[in-house]
Amino acid sequence: MKKVLVTGATGRTGSIVLQKLRDRNDVFEAMGFARSPEKAKERFGATDGFVFGDIRDRVSLNSALQGCQALVILTSAVPQPLSPPQPGQRPDMGFAPGGTPEEVDYRGQLNQIDAAKEAGVEQIVLVGSMGGTDENHFLNSIGNGKILIWKRKAEAYLIESGIDYTIIRAGGLLDEPGEQRELLVGQDDTLLTNPPNGIKPSIPRADVAELVVRALLEPNARNKAFDTISNPEGEVTRDFAALFSQTTPGL
Ligand SMILES: NC(=O)c1ccc[n+]([C@@H]2O[C@H](COP(=O)([O-])OP(=O)(O)OC[C@H]3O[C@@H](n4cnc5c(N)ncnc54)[C@H](OP(=O)(O)O)[C@@H]3O)[C@@H](O)[C@H]2O)c1
Repeated sequence: MKKVLVTGATGRTGSIVLQKLRDRNDVFEAMGFARSPEKAKERFGATDGFVFGDIRDRVSLNSALQGCQALVILTSAVPQPLSPPQPGQRPDMGFAPGGTPEEVDYRGQLNQIDAAKEAGVEQIVLVGSMGGTDENHFLNSIGNGKILIWKRKAEAYLIESGIDYTIIRAGGLLDEPGEQRELLVGQDDTLLTNPPNGIKPSIPRADVAELVVRALLEPNARNKAFDTISNPEGEVTRDFAALFSQTTPGL
């Protein structure tokens, strides 16, 4: 049995990962890490198997990671409107105090990596975002939060940590069913700037969650970082070992 902690477990992708791991309880003992018992209850009907805390607080992470072999990082800063909506105007977007990308995607991820190292965790799977090679990507301008820049710095820190890593940098996330598309992998944002046959650089959250689960199982997903999108017209991906064999180490 592999004991796995999923952070961001009440989030849109994190909750799918947690459910998938619970469905494989022959292999995994899955724990969720989240801020809100109410949200956990809303998503899962109960708070069993959850530890509550904040990734900015090392103490809560230290105790949640006790006895874990793997950590899945699915936390992220989330932009929100800074003022009530005005008719006919786009709201100014930014981040709540304490919820900036520097605090959540950088310091919060470093906290998780450091706590994992201290707890003897062997493997970390981190879900990030494509676009990190372009400092001028529009997402960096939201609230001047530089979200993709901070995420990429945290990825570099994970690679240097000495813990086995898999970094999955997703294209635009879709709330659509998984396991119905061909999954494509790449690096350096080429799937974003030049997607094959002009397909949309997007992927269902459920497919990202499946990649996380497979990365916990497949040895050749270890010490790899890759971009990923999906092709709705292609042959459905079933051979994840073959998919991971196309991916490479380092940023
Ligand atoms: N949206 C896209 O199109 C897109 C594209 C590519 C990649 N991505 C990336 O893919 C990943 C998953 O995205 P998603 O939309 O599924 O995520 P999400 O629903 O926005 O979930 C983010 C999670 O982070 C948690 N969180 C934030 N700050 C925290 C803190 N201080 N302590 C503990 N937990 C904290 C949130 O907790 P609560 O549940 O309490 O709010 C939430 O569960 C993210 O890294 C995202 O940037 C997104």
